[in-house]
This record gives sequence, structure tokens and C-alpha cells, in this order.
Amino acid sequence: MTELQFPTNSPYQDRIFDDPPFNPSAHLALEMPSKLFTLSDLGYTESKPDLPTNIAATSCFRVLSEEGVHALYHVCKQLEAFTTSNARIARNVRGGVYRSGFLRALALSPEIAEHMSTVLGAELAPHGMPHQLAHLNYQPITPGENVDKWHWDTLQVDYVMFVTDPNTVEGGEFQYFNGTREDFTQLHASNQSIPTDRIIAPKMPGPGYAVLMQGDHVVHQARGIKSGERITLVNGYTYKAHCAKDFSALGQLVHADEKQTVLAEYTRHMSLRCQQQLLHNVNTPNFNADAATHAEALKRARRELDDAIDKLETLQHEDMLHFGD
Ligand SMILES: [Fe+2]
Repeated sequence: MTELQFPTNSPYQDRIFDDPPFNPSAHLALEMPSKLFTLSDLGYTESKPDLPTNIAATSCFRVLSEEGVHALYHVCKQLEAFTTSNARIARNVRGGVYRSGFLRALALSPEIAEHMSTVLGAELAPHGMPHQLAHLNYQPITPGENVDKWHWDTLQVDYVMFVTDPNTVEGGEFQYFNGTREDFTQLHASNQSIPTDRIIAPKMPGPGYAVLMQGDHVVHQARGIKSGERITLVNGYTYKAHCAKDFSALGQLVHADEKQTVLAEYTRHMSLRCQQQLLHNVNTPNFNADAATHAEALKRARRELDDAIDKLETLQHEDMLHFGD
């Protein structure tokens, strides 16, 4: 699979007017995080053979140079005209990758994907559903209202990056829960507030810094701000490893995006995953394997399609999942 593949058509007509070219050598300043939290640190004890990494979340590390931040902010300000809202997030832009070539190239950047793969210790590819790329959160119109409520993601892996300077506003922290999804669900069900000593708020040195996490395992939220501006970008990835089953929460995504767009992008994403499995056989046939091994390789590709067909044919209404503020 080539990471730069992108649909040649679009569900949207409007694009931004002033779209700078993305230049990785000028716009990126990739650094490693100083601290890693594992799934075990968060309390996940059962072994997860379908997960290619045990790293759950990182401390904050630099992704963009000053020039990169400047260019991204310029793009985000133009995309602000396209904000939508849902039950969880007051103002966000999804699908901005269709409207801006800069945002698209940033989201699909092989340099960033490779760096994030190194940080996580597992090979990643930019997500095949373009609305899961470069999701943008803008501060709500109502001062103090949380930007995003406690939740876990409809994505396996994503990074959350500050576009604006987190140190020039009061509040607006990105926080994650030091515990499992089940722990959080239990606390919430028993109407208990989240103990402050179980909240991790990674220090955000400035704009262009990010946290990488297994978004579907780490419960997190984004706090509100009293005044000023707060924009963050969330970019999604999918595991390349054969052991990793896809995790696409279709029933949740239809609350955020047009249903027909979700269905088309999901079909695209699963086709890409299947293509990736088959391309492995196309480009590097295993000359030393027996019949059973070859059959298994083909079954893995078929599994992607079987999973997708099953999910499409059994899609039912779900309420949007979140835990409030
Ligand atoms: Fe999230």
C-alpha cells in the first residue's frame, strides 16, 4: 500500500483559498517522547495477541517546526468556516483533508507515519477513512464548556497535537485517565467523580507538540478554556501488522459524519487493508512456504472483506458513546 493514496473524488465542493504546499523538510521537527505509558501501566492485565504494541500513550513530543505551526494555523483558520458539531464535540472540522492539500499531505506524511511507528514500536499507516485524518477541534463558542467530553476513540492509534499555543490560554488541558476503559465505566456507572490522582495531564510545551496514544484504550478528554483560542488536530492511523484486526466503530462514526460518506470511506478503508494483505503476496511471494501457509495468507485478506461485509450488513443504530464532562 502506498501511504499517499487518496480518493480522486470528494464529498465536498469547497476548498480553502490559500493552501500552502506541505514541505516536510521545513515543516517537520520530529522528536521522541521522554516518557511512555504501557497498557499494563494503565491496568490492562489480559494479554492482547491482536495488538502489535503494549505502549498505550506518550508524553508530549515535538512534531512541527515553527514554520510548520504557522502554515497549519493558517490552514486551520480557513477551515474554521466548515465547523460542525455533535453530541460530544461543540465545534470540529472533519474531512478537512478533502478541502486542503496541505492538511492532506500532513495527515498522509510518510515521514510522520514512520516516526509514529518508531515511537509506538509498531508499523502504522495513515487511516484509510479520510474523515479519520486530521480531525480538528476548535474551542466551543460557550466559554468554559469542555472541548471534548471523556471518551475513548473510534480509532486504534492517533496523535493529538496543539495547533495553537496551550500556554497562552487558561485551561484547555488534554487529559487522560490512569486506568482502563472498564475502570472508567465502573466509576461513571457508580456516579463517582474521577479522582484527580488518576488524571494524567501531559505537559504541553507549545504548539506543534503532540501526544501519541492507543485512542481506543486510553480514556481521555479535552478541557474548556475561559477565553482565547484553542485548536487541536487528531490524526488517525491503522496497524499494518497481520495480527491486528480492524477497529472501525461505524455505528459511532455516523453521529459525526454523513452516513453515506462513512459507508463509502469504510468500504475504501477495508479495501485498502485487503489490498495491503494481498500486495504482500504479490510483491514478495514466499518461496519457502507450504500450502497451508499460503492458504492462511489468503484467508487473512479474505477476513478483512468478511469483517467489512458483516459490519455493513449488520449496521444498526447506536447511541453516541461518551461519559459527559
Ligand atoms: Fe479522542
